[in-house]
Amino acid sequence: MKLIIGSDHGAVDLKEEVKRVLKEEFAEVEVEDVGTFGTESVDYPDIAEKVCTPVANGEADRGIVLCGTGIGISIAANKIKGIRAALCHETYTAKMSREHNNANVLAMGGRTTGFEIADEIVRTWMKTEFAGGRHERRVNKIMALEAK
Ligand code: RB5
Repeated sequence: MKLIIGSDHGAVDLKEEVKRVLKEEFAEVEVEDVGTFGTESVDYPDIAEKVCTPVANGEADRGIVLCGTGIGISIAANKIKGIRAALCHETYTAKMSREHNNANVLAMGGRTTGFEIADEIVRTWMKTEFAGGRHERRVNKIMALEAK
């Protein structure tokens, strides 16, 4: 599996923490970090595009996007065709976003979510498979909305 991760300046520390968890517990996953790498202000839609375009076109399997709240970058991510980004603050929504919504992008906030909770969200999101069945029909309907 290939995963792309990116954050704006509001979540650079959380990005490093998420990368640590991925390296320690999901060593088989190839992780690409598209920045940002410092505290200088950047625009989260640019980061969303860098993470999500390769996911949408099949060059990567999953993405993780981070900003101060996770809100702006998840809104931007969901504008890209093929992306189902879920903003998660706890593990139940992380689990459901995979099981029911087949989310291919996880969003979190560096100013809203502490490291320990974020670590659990990442573990849950990475391990949970899409349930398919009736959920597949609904996800297909979401994707059909993009074509309208
Ligand atoms: C940047 O200051 C901040 O607006 C951004 O990180 C994010 O929280 C937007 O939704």
